[in-house]
Amino acid sequence: MLNDMKPLNPCDVALLNGPNLNLLGTREPEVYGADTLKSIEAKMMAKANAAGLKLESRQTNFEGELVSLIQQMKSAGTTFLIINAAAYTHTSIAIRDAIAAVDVPFIEVHLSNIYKREQFRHHSYLSERAEAVICGFGAMGYDVALDYVIGKLRGSL
Ligand code: DQA
Repeated sequence: MLNDMKPLNPCDVALLNGPNLNLLGTREPEVYGADTLKSIEAKMMAKANAAGLKLESRQTNFEGELVSLIQQMKSAGTTFLIINAAAYTHTSIAIRDAIAAVDVPFIEVHLSNIYKREQFRHHSYLSERAEAVICGFGAMGYDVALDYVIGKLRGSL
């Protein structure tokens, strides 16, 4: 529900997922795979914890909530963002501006290969500012992103 979003608690890494990603597992599984968002989040939490990092995860269907969550990264002390902005990737200057405002490095993740799909998915408002972009690996893309972030924050990369 709108405005019902839990604020971002202090964390090293924020994982933000945009619209319709709450439906993972049942939503076009041939495109997005069979993993649910809950299972992806659980794996990410466990991996971050094992590396001694605090990860906070939020999903929202609302653009403004994504903007607010990104803004909250400043007070949450977040040092890395992993984001799948879903359809807002292709439309949202507001999300791009919010990321620029907080100036936190981020990795853009997409489950599907957006370049193999409709033309309107080929443009991302975020990629130009992203440290890395991962697409087409399914749920594994989130894992790869977190491995990279752990390497960066733990000094092995
Ligand atoms: C997506 C790709 C977007 O084009 C789409 O709108 C999504 C999911 C992906 O993870 O593949 O909702 O970001």
